Amino acid sequence: MARHLITSAIPYINGIKHLGNLVGSQLPADLYARYLRARGHEVMFLCATDEHGTPAELAAAKAGKPVADYCAEMHGVQKALSDGFRLSFDHFGRSSSQRNHRLTQHFAGKLAEAGLIEEVTEKQVYSNADGRFLPDRYIEGTCPNCGYDKARGDQCENCTKQLDPTDLINPRSAISGSTDLEVRETRHLYLRQSKMRDTLQKWIDSKTDWPVLTTSIAKKWLNDGDGLQDRGITRDLDWGVPVKKGDAPWPGMEGKVFYVWFDAPIEYIACAAEWADARGLDEAAWRRWWRTDEGADDVRYTQFMGKDNVPFHTLSFPATIMGSGEPWKLVDFIKSFNYLNYDGGQFSTSQGRGVFMDQALSILPADYWRWWLLSHAPENSDSEFTWENFQASVNKDLADVLGNFVSRVTKFCRSKFGEAVPEGGETGAQETALIAELSTRLAAYNAHMGAIDIRKAAAELRAIWVAGNEYLQAAAPWSVIKTDPDRAAAQVRLSLNLIRVYAILSRPFIPDAAAAMMAAMGCDDWGWPDDLPGALAHLAPGHAFSVPEVTFRKITDEERASWQVQFSGQRG
Ligand code: MF3
Ligand code: ZN
Repeated sequence: MARHLITSAIPYINGIKHLGNLVGSQLPADLYARYLRARGHEVMFLCATDEHGTPAELAAAKAGKPVADYCAEMHGVQKALSDGFRLSFDHFGRSSSQRNHRLTQHFAGKLAEAGLIEEVTEKQVYSNADGRFLPDRYIEGTCPNCGYDKARGDQCENCTKQLDPTDLINPRSAISGSTDLEVRETRHLYLRQSKMRDTLQKWIDSKTDWPVLTTSIAKKWLNDGDGLQDRGITRDLDWGVPVKKGDAPWPGMEGKVFYVWFDAPIEYIACAAEWADARGLDEAAWRRWWRTDEGADDVRYTQFMGKDNVPFHTLSFPATIMGSGEPWKLVDFIKSFNYLNYDGGQFSTSQGRGVFMDQALSILPADYWRWWLLSHAPENSDSEFTWENFQASVNKDLADVLGNFVSRVTKFCRSKFGEAVPEGGETGAQETALIAELSTRLAAYNAHMGAIDIRKAAAELRAIWVAGNEYLQAAAPWSVIKTDPDRAAAQVRLSLNLIRVYAILSRPFIPDAAAAMMAAMGCDDWGWPDDLPGALAHLAPGHAFSVPEVTFRKITDEERASWQVQFSGQRG
């Protein structure tokens, strides 16, 4: 048994996330957390809302609410939706928490002590039309690196380059569209991450087992020359973590807040403290996850995120942690994702394009979405959601294969033997062959889940379901029973046990259906089937079961067509 710390990139507070956001971090992180728990490991799975920055302020203004109220409300909305998708966070925190305020100020103080913070007079874009400074993402323009014409001031979405607003060519206000912009002087703190280039380079070079997507992005910005530029970590905004040096005021920085990308990853740590606070636990309870001098040296820390987040997690946040000189836990493995597209274009929050978390749950249960999204996770390239593909996968994998197996076995048993595991008969060559195939596939499934190869794991799980179906089809207890009832009983007994094994193996992907399958088997023993022959004899003759309600229903052509229309335009 090992200890695993898992974090998902923390979603921005403004607005409900779409399925592309979900599959890019929270959902795969949940899959991994559930798998490790099922294998008996101790898991701390954390996520939170990312509440600071201009987008939150603007969204609150648009909603006509004070920003603190807006964030509290939206945190509740996002929490309810993550519950709806069965995301099994140990805590869903808030980057605006007092814990994060104090930790962010603490890190800034330590970085200053280490000589890694510089005060500079910066030129910043001021919008006369909007009457305010326009930080980072509220300036749009052409990317100096790749020429993309909708690059934001903090980062180009197209080439992932981290930018400064003043780098943009032909800048305009993203709030009003105004080009009446001027550059004004203001004083800011800069994190001298360039001083840490060698340390970061060595650290990233040592991560030979990381996904290529992660290391290629990290190395690109590390070796690019200006990828590790010193970064401004303060902003002229009202909403955020006030700039302080630990507990002490920071002369000259009054009225300023830390940049959202400085405080957001620190929330990964603060979230563990919030977790302890919510349970009335002491400091040691959370520090054993995060401080290598207080027990975290034997923790394995895995982060999940979309590819646009990689530079911040491979360079900026590690620079904060290493630069502090304190023994905080560094990430051991970064799993990153490409983008999920929607029906021939991009999912877009600003344009309301695609399917959003609340809409998805209003038309189908979470498991249907979880299965499709995870089995099509954009791991090696971008992937695309289409309604045809969604309908086909759900109907085939979930309804025809898994659901059908559960339903055929339980209904046949009920009608011929009654609602208890039948006794008598012995297994033969067919069962031996099935168990051999399942054992090989289970080993592969374990390996893919352990390596977070999500599509491969999904394919293996599907193959495990298919193997049971094919066995049942070939064994044909409905024919055998006419001549050899004992033999049919043995086949059904094994098949009922296989339903329980399917519940255990499928639970990380489709937790609700797995719970229903396990409940129908009148059992609550979720022990991982390392000993497959033993697990397939777990439910003894005479053990009562019930026929579950339809495990998965099919999506009809009419539904598919109507959803296609319903979700083709903008979100209303
Ligand atoms: N809110 C950011 C996004 O959705 C992710 C922040 S991750 C953290 O892209 F590391 F900063 F916490
Ligand atoms: Zn670019």
